[in-house]
Amino acid sequence: MKNNILQQQIAYYRARANEYDQWFYRLGRYDRGEKLNQLWFKEVDAVKQALHQIRQAEEILELASGTGIWTQELLKIGKKITAIDSSEEVLKINCSKLNSPNVDYHQIDLFAWEPDAEYDLVFFSFWLSHVPPELLEAFLLKVYKSVRVGGQVFIVDSRFEPTSTANNHILNDDGSIYKSRKLNDGQEFQIIKVFYQPDELQMHLTEVGFKADVKLTEHYFIYANATKF
Ligand SMILES: C[S@@+](CC[C@H](N)C(=O)[O-])C[C@H]1O[C@@H](n2cnc3c(N)ncnc32)[C@H](O)[C@@H]1O
Repeated sequence: MKNNILQQQIAYYRARANEYDQWFYRLGRYDRGEKLNQLWFKEVDAVKQALHQIRQAEEILELASGTGIWTQELLKIGKKITAIDSSEEVLKINCSKLNSPNVDYHQIDLFAWEPDAEYDLVFFSFWLSHVPPELLEAFLLKVYKSVRVGGQVFIVDSRFEPTSTANNHILNDDGSIYKSRKLNDGQEFQIIKVFYQPDELQMHLTEVGFKADVKLTEHYFIYANATKF
């Protein structure tokens, strides 16, 4: 693994906190024109629908919660959300957007995280792709440990699709997991981005003990729903 890459990744999302939502809402450098934006939102809706098939949960753990784009969906499913992220900047945005007494925020580096409770649902979106392959199994084992027997994990992430990122990010199909990312002011960072195929993700989830169902939307997303028996 490249030196410092995990720290750079943390620094990137801290520095990007105030402009992060532009990506999801297809604004500024992420605006790919009406047709592609519509496709994006249609596929977002498909993933949300799948998420809302999950039965109501008492307690949900959201890993790398970011600015709350998905935390607000989780609030419709669960009574109590524990949201973890390494960036105090995104947690602050999340907290002020949602303004909910039902979300508890914790600033934690997930590579140093030790699970100490079990949840009905563990959710993470656009996080797994940032976990270096050599740390994947250890991370998924911790996820497994934090799911209650009979509980579930729901994962959303990116498919390899150049129009999903900013128009000044070059998404090469070069096999490298190291990608360059820019802020609106041009400042550049290196991050990790791994694009999984459904069968690979299914295999990784099965290996740690989950029974998993992995699906794709047509262009942009991969999502998985897995149960711990
Ligand atoms: C691509 S964003 C996803 C945010 C949110 N889940 C969403 O879908 O909008 C990745 C998130 O991971 C967080 N992050 C990066 N490195 C981390 C680490 N080592 N531990 C915990 N969170 C981390 C970032 O601060 C950022 O909020």
